[in-house]
Amino acid sequence: MNAYMTNGTLDFLKKLPEKHPDIPFYFMKEGTSTLVYYEGNRKNIFASGRSYEIVTENGDLQTDGFVVMNNIPVADEGKATFEDKFKQRQQNVESMKGFQAFRLLRPTNGNTYVVMTQWASESDYDNWKNSDQFKQAHKGGADAKPPAYFLDQPFVTSYYMIEVD
Ligand code: HEM
Repeated sequence: MNAYMTNGTLDFLKKLPEKHPDIPFYFMKEGTSTLVYYEGNRKNIFASGRSYEIVTENGDLQTDGFVVMNNIPVADEGKATFEDKFKQRQQNVESMKGFQAFRLLRPTNGNTYVVMTQWASESDYDNWKNSDQFKQAHKGGADAKPPAYFLDQPFVTSYYMIEVD
């Protein structure tokens, strides 16, 4: 299964559902920037977007809520180890209040994986971020030395889901 996303202005991106009525798009927004996401066994319709293979998924994405993406640049030789860690993850996040969906996305081009979580609200995410379950899933702690196969510091982006008609 694949996943695709692109950023742009709402005015431009909101024309997509008209052009592609068969694709269930998810719209989300951060400040003035809009991100559109879709997934499935579909082709890439974005001229300049990012494409991924879904390595692991859990839960159905909703059209409302709060999305957090942890972007992790992983060297080619570390990709198998990195994915393996996620295959062995404890799946505690799924039992948290407000959890809606989880995706581990492997980039089709390049090195930056996306760990995507969707929550009913921002405070549900904050609650998980401050929980023992989060600590358990990230045992080294935030200050732990990153593995050598991380090419760069991970960076986190977050979005509010929006409805587009
Ligand atoms: C920036 C520092 C972070 C790094 C280096 C990192 C890396 C990792 C790794 C390697 C795992 C696999 C578990 C393991 O190693 O045993 C994991 C688990 C996970 N990470 Fe992160 N992560 C970070 C922060 C975050 C943030 C901010 C989010 C928010 C989306 C997130 C979402 C998740 C989720 C949902 C899991 C699975 C938890 C579970 O199964 O209960 N991570 N992370």
